[in-house]
Amino acid sequence: MHDRNLIELASLSRNFSYAPYSTFKVGTALLASNGKVYTGCNIESASYTPTNCAERTAFFKAISEGVTTFEAIAIVGGFDDAQTDCCYPCGVCLQVMAEFCEPDFKIILVDRDEHLNVYRLDALLPYRFGPTHLKLKGVSSE
Ligand code: THU
Repeated sequence: MHDRNLIELASLSRNFSYAPYSTFKVGTALLASNGKVYTGCNIESASYTPTNCAERTAFFKAISEGVTTFEAIAIVGGFDDAQTDCCYPCGVCLQVMAEFCEPDFKIILVDRDEHLNVYRLDALLPYRFGPTHLKLKGVSSE
């Protein structure tokens, strides 16, 4: 699965975004190590707090089906139908990534010129509180 294909799947998923309050629509495509892709969109709530980001939607879909190892995620976001510059994952979503992903997990973003910007998880979250801090072995985290 090429980075550009993953971005295209994220763009398609963005069409399902439920964001009547912010009107900021986000779509994601999460590539699992088994080759399967889980898509996600942001889902807002009238009481705001329950809002779920597109990244976590994709992760939770995969994890709820027993898939817990991942290679990459593509993220596309912006107001309404316009795609803005790179849509970086929020801190809460980075923490979810830190729970399940290795430091070299790939985060694929697209800028307003349609260029791909690819980051490692440890570039966006260089220090992390993770499973090993609670003495859970076998999960990579520092
Ligand atoms: N949002 C995401 O889904 N992912 C991001 O990476 C940034 C923010 C959503 C949450 C909310 O529905 C809207 O974008 C505005 O914050």
